[in-house]
Amino acid sequence: MEFDTNEDLHRARGWIQFAGSIAVLTGAGISAESGVPTFRDADGLWRNFRFEDLATPEAFERNPLLVWEWYNFRRERIAKAQPNPGHMALVELETRKSEFTLITQNVDGLHELAGSKNLLKLHGDIWQVRCTKCGAAWPDRRPSLPEIPPHCLCGALARPGVVRFGEPLPKRVIDLATQAVKSSEILLVIGTSAIVYPAAGLIPLAKAHGRTVIEINPDETPCSDMADCSLHGPAGEILPRLVGSDSHRPKESDARSGARMKTFAEMSAPEIRAMAAWLRSKLQGRANPLVLSQLLDGELVRRYLRGNEERISQGTRKEEER
Ligand code: APR
Repeated sequence: MEFDTNEDLHRARGWIQFAGSIAVLTGAGISAESGVPTFRDADGLWRNFRFEDLATPEAFERNPLLVWEWYNFRRERIAKAQPNPGHMALVELETRKSEFTLITQNVDGLHELAGSKNLLKLHGDIWQVRCTKCGAAWPDRRPSLPEIPPHCLCGALARPGVVRFGEPLPKRVIDLATQAVKSSEILLVIGTSAIVYPAAGLIPLAKAHGRTVIEINPDETPCSDMADCSLHGPAGEILPRLVGSDSHRPKESDARSGARMKTFAEMSAPEIRAMAAWLRSKLQGRANPLVLSQLLDGELVRRYLRGNEERISQGTRKEEER
């Protein structure tokens, strides 16, 4: 779905500001501006290397030294990288939401380095090493390992702590990610080509549960057609603007602390548009009035809802008639 970016950015920002729960799915694209190569872009890793030789259990079986040389190359590259404004904006967003889950396909550790807390790593961690026999796993943050392939204390060969093609994802992690996507109002999909499963399956799952999907990616992806809004551009530029300062939004803490909410008359045009966008996204999912009143009580919503009462009640009725 092609959209005009500025208007879309504003709409998406309104949805984000008023959502109580957000899940985020990131891919290699969010680390591109930190100098970490993606996999499938023009200069991506899989353009220069064959994943069949490097990222499958069979490849490791065949030539563990070659695999470790490649992981050392990637570790050295990632060790020089720092989180970018895209990573930082997600840390900021997490501080504002009572329910926030960051689901990443990345193994580079930059979300943690940025300070993200509620993080689910679907594909493991390049800074972890794991024994192929006793299953022991340990962190090793040395940019490149002096002795490769490394061995476990039990004497067995050790492998990189990442999930390889053809291997199952850690069950607990994918279960938690699935739960977070089902229960979060918004799924923010950032910097992924959305073709590697089961991670990519989280996007249609969100749609199937009536959730709002916002995509950030310079290119079109299979997610773009499912997204309620696709913001085409680099995450490091768009995310800070999308998260932005929230002077337009009453903080949840204000609501709990009984701080007075702005009335309609006091709101600026962008605030009203943001509120309208947020309410529209709620109404699409036939928002539970209880949730609405809990999230935003006070005269503002009532007046807004009153204005839309006719539309809401028409909707309900149509359903009944059917
Ligand atoms: N900001 C946002 N998105 C970007 C940026 C950027 N600055 N630069 C590139 N992108 C987008 C690309 O357009 C592309 O759609 O990021 C996406 C990166 O896609 P892939 O390289 O396929 O990476 P990813 O989707 O994370 O791959 C999934 O595949 O190889 C395996 O295990 C590996 O986790 C990885 C999985």
